[in-house]
Amino acid sequence: MELNGKVALITGAASGIGHGVAQRFANAGGRVCIADLNIDAAKSAAEQIGGDDVAIAVAMDVTNEEQVRSGVDAAAKAFGTIDILVSNAGIQIVHPIEEFPFEEWKKLLSIHLDGAFLTTKSCVKYMYPQKSGALIYMGSVHSHEASPLKSAYVAAKHGILGLARVMAKEGAKHNVRANTICPGFVRTPLVEKQIPQQAHDLGITEQRVVEDVMLGETVDKQFTMISDVAEVALMLASFQTNALTGESIVVSHGWFMN
Ligand SMILES: NC(=O)c1ccc[n+]([C@@H]2O[C@H](COP(=O)([O-])OP(=O)(O)OC[C@H]3O[C@@H](n4cnc5c(N)ncnc54)[C@H](O)[C@@H]3O)[C@@H](O)[C@H]2O)c1
Repeated sequence: MELNGKVALITGAASGIGHGVAQRFANAGGRVCIADLNIDAAKSAAEQIGGDDVAIAVAMDVTNEEQVRSGVDAAAKAFGTIDILVSNAGIQIVHPIEEFPFEEWKKLLSIHLDGAFLTTKSCVKYMYPQKSGALIYMGSVHSHEASPLKSAYVAAKHGILGLARVMAKEGAKHNVRANTICPGFVRTPLVEKQIPQQAHDLGITEQRVVEDVMLGETVDKQFTMISDVAEVALMLASFQTNALTGESIVVSHGWFMN
């Protein structure tokens, strides 16, 4: 699978899964824009991935319409267009609902859903006229399943699936595909933070959080790796036809089977 110079804008790519996707795309001959809230980390990620002709960093808060618009335009100016969007930036906040601060609910929904909406809106401006593009959304097993303490995250990730399916229908006549990747637990900073929090909230040890809560339903008690998710992203980015659109691909060691 080769990207042959195709341009990908990847949000939240200064860390974790997004960073792995950016690296994999560059290795496959793509050019990548690392769009992240954390501009220092985004710049070092871009430098590590390649020179300015391969990887650039843009500062972007995905909840801010003006920053999204100017960041997408800057990436398109640097590389000529946008062929692929990976809407990946995300956070996790866990609380039982009766203790869930409304502000934190709104913050989480805004990063995941407003972020996906705003980046899509800005990127299709480049994809529709050229009659090609791939929209890739980072969902989760929680786009299909629910877990306690994750009301905001599960609602957001189910919402992502809805947006992707609409974009598959709206994008089709422009030859723009839209798909969602649904990973199981991947050991990134987002997940490391949850282990002590869940142990506290559920009143169990950290080892039980990992073995029972996170990996209990997998077929082999294994974490999904960043490289697994990056490989699926590359497949979706390089797929040639509308045969594969509106789909969600679960990468979770069998935790959830579609
Ligand atoms: N790690 C997992 O187990 C897992 C599983 C399923 C889905 N996901 C999803 O994968 C995506 C990436 O998660 P990760 O585990 O790599 O997390 P991470 O914490 O390693 O990286 C998230 C990145 O998003 C950036 N970010 C946060 N808020 C932002 C904003 N408002 N604007 C722009 N950038 C912002 C952060 O600076 C960071 O670089 C998220 O959407 C997450 O929900 C993760």
